[in-house]
Amino acid sequence: MMEDVVVENLWKIYPGGIQAVKGISFTVHHGEIFSLLGPNGAGKTTTISILTTLIKPTKGKALVGGFDVEKEAKRVREIIGLVPQDIVVDDDLTGWDNLMVQAALYHIPKSVARKRAEDLLEFMDLKEFANKKAENYSGGMRRRLELAAALLHRPKILFLDEPTLGLDVQVRTAVWDYINRIRKEEDMTLIMTTHYMEEADKLSDRVAIIDYGEIKALGSPKELKDSLGGDIIEVEVEALPEGSSLESLIPVNGMVKEVKLRGNVIRIKTAEGEKALPNIVISLSSKGVTVKSVNLIKPSLDEVFMEFTGKRIRESEVSKEEVFKERAIMRRRAR
Ligand SMILES: Nc1ncnc2c1ncn2[C@@H]1O[C@H](COP(=O)(O)OP(=O)(O)OP(=O)(O)O)[C@@H](O)[C@H]1O
Ligand SMILES: [Mg+2]
Repeated sequence: MMEDVVVENLWKIYPGGIQAVKGISFTVHHGEIFSLLGPNGAGKTTTISILTTLIKPTKGKALVGGFDVEKEAKRVREIIGLVPQDIVVDDDLTGWDNLMVQAALYHIPKSVARKRAEDLLEFMDLKEFANKKAENYSGGMRRRLELAAALLHRPKILFLDEPTLGLDVQVRTAVWDYINRIRKEEDMTLIMTTHYMEEADKLSDRVAIIDYGEIKALGSPKELKDSLGGDIIEVEVEALPEGSSLESLIPVNGMVKEVKLRGNVIRIKTAEGEKALPNIVISLSSKGVTVKSVNLIKPSLDEVFMEFTGKRIRESEVSKEEVFKERAIMRRRAR
């Protein structure tokens, strides 16, 4: 199997001592969609920035397309495309002119650029808007224009940093369709970051769960979900009776695989949640535990995230309004 990305013990410590990336290692196979999934500040953009040669690592090694990101940065840049997290579309230009600016940056001959831009605008359903200024574009249209711009020089490896951040659910799904189409039609490797669970689940061949600069789990969405070993039952209790241990309240047996206590929530792993749940509640009540609420959870990447990091990714997700506010500020700054 050919590896398009090889990362070995990569570190990034920003001035001031912020350890954004702490010794991560992974590889991305040719042709796959690989996702870095993690909450705000996990180190996703930092990792992408190192792989796309925008910043230098503090320590460790990274190869992209076989080229060293530090020693052969120019070669790396020739074979990659990047859709950055921040908006890069120029609002004062039309969609078409945005693409022509991008083509000039990559020294693509004009006639070639025109043909490719036409095809890409058609592909991204932006043809009718090609001659409209980007300031009139919706969030989803901007993102599609950015995708088109990143594809203009036919990159072998495409990096997408939060491709659907701040977009409506419907628009998000549409962007996923485009990403899937790109992958089908081009012989391309895609590396993306996201903090949307479903996005990582639906699109990726493999997912690396990243938190505080470390990879906590890595595998296909199915492998990661299977690693949970079945369903999860969360029982919120008033308090455990004095002197009683968790093990005595819910013994691990054929049905119950693992029991943990987080605050006043008992988290139980079980192969068949529906069957185990009534027994657990009855057993707890008979032992004098007041059950406040019960939650049966089916395996999802959300649960995988919880399992490996001890928290929910949603808790740290920024609101859409905040994202748009931030993006508006970035656009104004970029002018
Ligand atoms: N240029 C910088 N200088 C100093 N610290 C930085 C810089 N860029 C990022 N950081 C810090 O490094 C950490 C990782 O940031 P990074 O942007 O890589 O995270 P992220 O996973 O992309 O987050 P988000 O989901 O918000 O995009 C954060 O604590 C952030 O504040
Ligand atoms: Mg980021």
